[in-house]
Amino acid sequence: MYVCICNALNTRTVTQAIDDGAETVGQVYKACGAVPQCGKCKCTIREMLDEHAPEHAAGTPVTAAIPGLPADPLPAAIRAA
Ligand code: FES
Repeated sequence: MYVCICNALNTRTVTQAIDDGAETVGQVYKACGAVPQCGKCKCTIREMLDEHAPEHAAGTPVTAAIPGLPADPLPAAIRAA
């Protein structure tokens, strides 16, 4: 399936870019040798980044990647209950 019509990027190409270390939409474009044009694909690429992020695969809490938030937002007392 095509993710970016303007640059003819399909899911396989974008997924490979993410697997190779792209962490932002801009890095995905760059890794694919593409340049954003209409920008309609940005949300889809962002979703793919969120779904395929290495920390998600490893089971790390999502909050660990958000600056200013504790790595584990649940107090130990709640977690133990
Ligand atoms: S669909 Fe990706 S830039 Fe237009």
